[in-house]
Amino acid sequence: MNARGARRLLARHPWVYRSDVVEAPARPGLYPVFHRGRFLALAVVNPRSEITVRAYAWRPGDPWAALLDRLEAALAARAADRAARPEGARRLVHAEGDFLPGLVVDEYAGHLVATVNTAALEARLDDLLGRLIERLEPRGVLLKNDSRGRAAEGLPRYVRPAYGEVPEPLWFREGARWLAAHPRTGQKTGAFLDQRENRLYAAGLAARHRPRRVLDAFAYQGAFAVQLAPFAEEVVLLDRSREALDAAARVFRKNRLPEPKSVEANAFDYLRAAAGRGERYDLVVLDPPSFARRRADLERAYRAYKEINLRAMALLPPGGLLLTASCSYHLEEPLFLAMLREAAGDAGGSFRLLARRGQAWDHPVLVNVPETGYLKFAALEALG
Ligand SMILES: C[S@@+](CC[C@H](N)C(=O)[O-])C[C@H]1O[C@@H](n2cnc3c(N)ncnc32)[C@H](O)[C@@H]1O
Repeated sequence: MNARGARRLLARHPWVYRSDVVEAPARPGLYPVFHRGRFLALAVVNPRSEITVRAYAWRPGDPWAALLDRLEAALAARAADRAARPEGARRLVHAEGDFLPGLVVDEYAGHLVATVNTAALEARLDDLLGRLIERLEPRGVLLKNDSRGRAAEGLPRYVRPAYGEVPEPLWFREGARWLAAHPRTGQKTGAFLDQRENRLYAAGLAARHRPRRVLDAFAYQGAFAVQLAPFAEEVVLLDRSREALDAAARVFRKNRLPEPKSVEANAFDYLRAAAGRGERYDLVVLDPPSFARRRADLERAYRAYKEINLRAMALLPPGGLLLTASCSYHLEEPLFLAMLREAAGDAGGSFRLLARRGQAWDHPVLVNVPETGYLKFAALEALG
């Protein structure tokens, strides 16, 4: 590893790019890494990958034992939550955020959905699964190894059951409601767990404000809407996916809530037209997909975020609430807030910032590794 790579590892950023690696092992695996003969870290290494080194421990020792120590620490941090909410869902392993490079494990009511994004851990998959099964005694394990990132590691994409039964959908509790995960066919590992605490926060806010009309834009399977519905007279779900809206209707039925109105449309068009028609919503949720997957997309993404926020702001009466999020890592929080400020200015209204929030606690963010934090969430109140 050259001096630049060493500096990154010493600053506790785990990634070293190929251009900074002086001599890589021929095969992917878990290795100690050195700079001029001095030990730096234990790392997941893949000579084929652009991110060649992903460190996970900074003390010398047996690489596999050190990795299992990291896994044990991640599981220990979730143990009390597992015991308290056996029917709930949580992220058990948040990749680099838990010092387990490229490994994500989510749990839905006792079922595990795991994603492995490095060749070194794929090679130890049986050992890894064995340890998870022994420690957690899950009802089933599904491998959701279909991410685009796997190509960079030279890995095939597949989804397959690895143990026991994993039904589809997987019903789980979030606060007082049932939600459905679709690990085989859905996005992420089947649901958006990173927004869990924001949805519960939204429910608390709605309980106090009692919005009459709610719009859940970019609703997916209505996870926000189902938390808000008990406090509202009318709920409208907006998504461009018919499948997601149909799944949302099933979620409402399971919760014995009246069928919501669902609109299958492009949110950009719908929001513009609704503002044009002078429609009013007392609470709007905006939870779009990432508009900036690459830094190069940032300018265009900023305009897109501003556009939807500005249109949503125009739908709010005084006292109305906007719950708005961005999951683009590249749109950092100061820029997210600047975007909201510009949108509010263009909408011609004053807005109070009620809350600034991020991703749920089980998606830990490392200060040294900004890439581990990506979700921004703000709650705004229209003041007229
Ligand atoms: C991040 S997910 C929403 C997650 C959801 N709020 C939750 O808590 O589970 C984004 C959703 O936006 C939808 N979507 C993406 N682009 C859209 C567009 N232009 N118009 C409407 N929906 C869109 C996708 O189909 C997806 O369901």
